Amino acid sequence: MLQQQISEAVACIREKFTEQPSVGLILGSGLGMLADEITNPVKISYDSIPNFPESTVEGHAGQLVLGELNGLTVIAMQGRFHYYEGYGLDVVTFPVRVMKALGVETLLVTNAAGGVNTSFIPGDLMLITDHINNTAQNPLIGPNNPALGVRFPDMSTAYDRNLQAIARDVAADLQLNLKEGVYVWNTGPTYETPAEIKMLQAIGGDAVGMSTVPEVIVARHAGMDVLGISCISNMAAGILDQPLNHEEVIETTEKVRESFLALVKAVLERIGAQ
Ligand code: 6GU
Repeated sequence: MLQQQISEAVACIREKFTEQPSVGLILGSGLGMLADEITNPVKISYDSIPNFPESTVEGHAGQLVLGELNGLTVIAMQGRFHYYEGYGLDVVTFPVRVMKALGVETLLVTNAAGGVNTSFIPGDLMLITDHINNTAQNPLIGPNNPALGVRFPDMSTAYDRNLQAIARDVAADLQLNLKEGVYVWNTGPTYETPAEIKMLQAIGGDAVGMSTVPEVIVARHAGMDVLGISCISNMAAGILDQPLNHEEVIETTEKVRESFLALVKAVLERIGAQ
């Protein structure tokens, strides 16, 4: 049973880290270095936590890092679980349930995404203002447990307006050109065709990726406030006349390292000051 599984994971984590985290961080491909900034870190590898699966993708450390970051007690996922790896969405979103049970109220999700909006360039950071679930999958399909959330969750403000305002404000202070837009979730693992990217432009997408939306759906079901930031790692297919590859994604995230870290850390500081 899900609640039992959550309790087992929570008990294991609380044994190693006794403080209550208030903010959860999910760090996307190439963005795990943010967890290295956490002070007095307690690192717990996913394979040592009950009911957590093992991460399979290279370049993902596969551990929780708990500690202090810019004045807040945080729990970070260094590496996430993707649907394309073959995990069910219950597994993909399990860590979000565990974060909620640990006391987390605010979830900061990050990812590397392809640029669909032609005014973007690789290396841009994009504030996620909304999303499109383009998969016909949903982590909440199945019986609803009312103890965890309502049957039909509202998604009108999936990305918290107050947190978006903080991100814009902080970006302006840092003189960082923060883009904004709608993140489209496709399952992957293939990147899209140029025709599919034209379709995503037509339906209002600005960036496309293979993660984030399931975690956000479950976080909203659980009543958490969400902030989402995409790193535009490459332009999507057909926009530039060049093939796409995962190496480029990682290279770009390395290049934006400084601005990404500065933005997220300043956002956390501002959340702590509220
Ligand atoms: Cl172009 N598409 C998808 N689905 N995920 C990505 C991407 C593109 N670039 C980085 N991640």
